[in-house]
Amino acid sequence: MPAIPQIDPTSGAAPEIQPDLPITSANITPAFDPNEVTVVYILGGPGSGKGTQSANLVRDYGFKHLSAGDLLREEQNREGSQYGDLIKSYIKDGLIVPMEVTVKLLENSMRTALDSKDKQSRFLIDGFPRKMDQAVFFEQSVCPSKCTIFLDAPEDVMLERLLERGKTSGRSDDNEESIKKRFKTFIETSMPVVDMFRQEGKVVSVSALGSIGEIYTKLVEELAKRGISPTK
Ligand code: C5P
Ligand code: MG
Repeated sequence: MPAIPQIDPTSGAAPEIQPDLPITSANITPAFDPNEVTVVYILGGPGSGKGTQSANLVRDYGFKHLSAGDLLREEQNREGSQYGDLIKSYIKDGLIVPMEVTVKLLENSMRTALDSKDKQSRFLIDGFPRKMDQAVFFEQSVCPSKCTIFLDAPEDVMLERLLERGKTSGRSDDNEESIKKRFKTFIETSMPVVDMFRQEGKVVSVSALGSIGEIYTKLVEELAKRGISPTK
């Protein structure tokens, strides 16, 4: 594993990857073997129901759930974290945190799960990758993914859900101003990642309209078409 470039803690500037050493599969070996470790991403706009459907998938498919947003919020609140302030400001503005932080948090969590007594090796990674550089860096340095679940919902529905959630979530970004910024980031920065995986034939797309149960039924059907079946 090459040294992870560091973020400038004062300016928050993302580190440059050594320009003379382009990231290619030729010079980086993934930390985990995709034959032994399964990675499924779940993506969708803010409020599309990623967390809710992840809970169903964890229950029935034996996945370990890793939410990139939750890991970032945990790191933001961790005493002594050098990235706390940086994460806080990115989240408030709905911007994508520099990828090294998020990828490292995910890799650490995966290693902990793999080293644990029950050796969990199926991961459902929620809300990641949200930017092309995260996708490329994770796939090449941590583990190539099996597929991406995409929950498709219109903005007006997501806005309504998030404003409702904001009444009790305590999240700094569940307010109308932050939500609008998150939608913009999603369209401009995250959708190209979904489109890239779609071109590779690796996207399981499901309409995220309707009840939680209806959406989940469709999701199970689509996963079955890909040979991904419940474990219980
Ligand atoms: O997925 P969630 O809505 O919990 O993400 C909250 C925020 O965390 C995002 O708006 C973004 O600021 C940050 N984030 C990120 N990179 C990710 C996932 C989340 O920067 N892959
Ligand atoms: Mg979430």
